[in-house]
Amino acid sequence: MSQRLLLSFALWASCSPGSAGAVLAALSQPSVRCRASRYPVAVDCSWTPLGAPNSTRATSFIATYRLGLATQQQSRPCLQPTPQATQCTIPHVHLFSMEPYVLNVTAVHPSGASSSLLAFVAERIIKPDPPEGVRLRAAGKRLQVFWHPPASWPFPDIFSLKYRVRYRRHGASHFRQVGPIEATSFTLRAAQPRANYCVQVSAQDLTNYGKPSDWSLPGQSEGTPIIPEEGLGS
Ligand SMILES: *[C@@H]1O[C@H](CO)[C@@H](O)[C@H](O)[C@H]1NC(C)=O
Ligand SMILES: *[C@@H]1O[C@H](CO)[C@@H](O)[C@H](O)[C@H]1NC(C)=O
Repeated sequence: MSQRLLLSFALWASCSPGSAGAVLAALSQPSVRCRASRYPVAVDCSWTPLGAPNSTRATSFIATYRLGLATQQQSRPCLQPTPQATQCTIPHVHLFSMEPYVLNVTAVHPSGASSSLLAFVAERIIKPDPPEGVRLRAAGKRLQVFWHPPASWPFPDIFSLKYRVRYRRHGASHFRQVGPIEATSFTLRAAQPRANYCVQVSAQDLTNYGKPSDWSLPGQSEGTPIIPEEGLGS
């Protein structure tokens, strides 16, 4: 599996910088990013028109993709909610493809059109959304942390996630970090009783593809009503 993937990276790397770069010299191309936060259901891409003269007057975009660098490969539409939208979705990710996807986003201006090409391998752009519902339960010196996988990750039982937990006592300057762990809970054994902890969790594909998610929202203590700090009232 990983060998096949490496092969496609090599293929992609050897082709992208020179030839593709030259085609993209014009200033007015959209700047395109793609991310697979709901692998393997879809890849989501978005773009911002780049600082060309009057680029904000681009009226619409045409987004297409193909699998493979060869231009004779069949292009398919990257699904846009409207032609003016600055995002599109590639449905049905081809798993462990030998060849990269090539996305072509063309901004159509009143004065002409300009295209950006982006080549990527789906597994390399995996980045889950952060874990959700992080809860803390204190029992003496133990602080238990529970969370849920991100709801946007479609098949956590098949494409498992691993997690990192970082925590910091209120007033401390540095986080400590533990993991990766495959469970959706963790017990901090030598917590200071009654101290306030900031605990956050990050998720990553179990097999190390792509990047870890951003850190979750801080965990909320179970059973402790949240008392607004003085002076914060509106
Ligand atoms: C940009 O817009 C201005 C006014 O809207 C126009 O005069 C100018 O010719 C445009 N420039 C280009 C490069 O389209
Ligand atoms: C990108 O898409 C535009 C609009 O469909 C098309 O004219 C152009 O030839 C495409 N470029 C490449 C390199 O496929």
